[in-house]
Amino acid sequence: MWYPGHIKKAKSKIKTYLKTVQGVLELVDARAPYASRAYEFEDLFKDKDRIILFNKIDIADEKQLKFWKDYYKSKGYKVLETSLKKVSIKSFLTKVVYKTFPKKFRELRVMVAGIPNVGKSTLINSLKGKKSLRVGNTPGVTKGVQWISVNDNFMLLDTPGILYSDIYNKKILYKLILIGSVKPEDDEKEFAIEYGFNFFKEKYPEILKTALKGDNPPEDYYEFLNMFAKKRNFIKSGNEYDIERAMSTFLKELSDGKFGKVVYDYPEDYEILK
Ligand code: GTP
Repeated sequence: MWYPGHIKKAKSKIKTYLKTVQGVLELVDARAPYASRAYEFEDLFKDKDRIILFNKIDIADEKQLKFWKDYYKSKGYKVLETSLKKVSIKSFLTKVVYKTFPKKFRELRVMVAGIPNVGKSTLINSLKGKKSLRVGNTPGVTKGVQWISVNDNFMLLDTPGILYSDIYNKKILYKLILIGSVKPEDDEKEFAIEYGFNFFKEKYPEILKTALKGDNPPEDYYEFLNMFAKKRNFIKSGNEYDIERAMSTFLKELSDGKFGKVVYDYPEDYEILK
């Protein structure tokens, strides 16, 4: 969990890095285009040219994305969508970046931003030039933050572990757990599953059915976990179902998109968008 102290520190770090780049390429998980955004940082990015990349569209319910794409366009972002794991976008993205970020210096420098698990490493690896030099750690730069050269005049600033969403309510926390961006603590796992179960029952019942290998889901999330454990043969000593294992497996496979396509964010979830 992140606290105000972390956020303040992260903000000041980001400010320092922003001075060195001309534009920001921000990744979001298309399944949670708002919750997975570090919206705390929107103000920080406002003076930069910005591209927002909806990643993981292979496991997102694309019908629900139109609102969010329009929303970010209205905020001045160039909006792109892709599935970095499946598609190579190097030449396309390089072109878009050149077009979107006017080259003011000899070299085009762009910061890659995004909360954990949205696909930053996948992007960096796909953009790295063959003879790409990982230009070690610049002094004053946090461990892991590094410049990556895409080609002779295009550099990316990789910023792992710096950006995260400001989790100001439980719904956001649960969504981030369900997409795998936040590791749940203690009882958060079960609460997130309960939230997800009720959400799926209403919006995506087929997710639950797929998780239960074709069986109709029950009324209650705990009964669902029992059924899930039974299907997988997760049994503890004493012949009880292993609910802990059922929860971890369900969450892992759900965050990997194994049960179908989903979008968790709806504009009505957010006061400021109503
Ligand atoms: P941190 O290092 O935690 O900050 O994560 P990251 O933002 O660098 O994400 P990373 O590239 O490690 O990807 C996280 C997980 O998402 C990995 O298991 C990737 O294989 C997976 N992933 C990345 N892109 C896609 C995609 O387009 N579709 C799907 N289904 N999975 C993806």
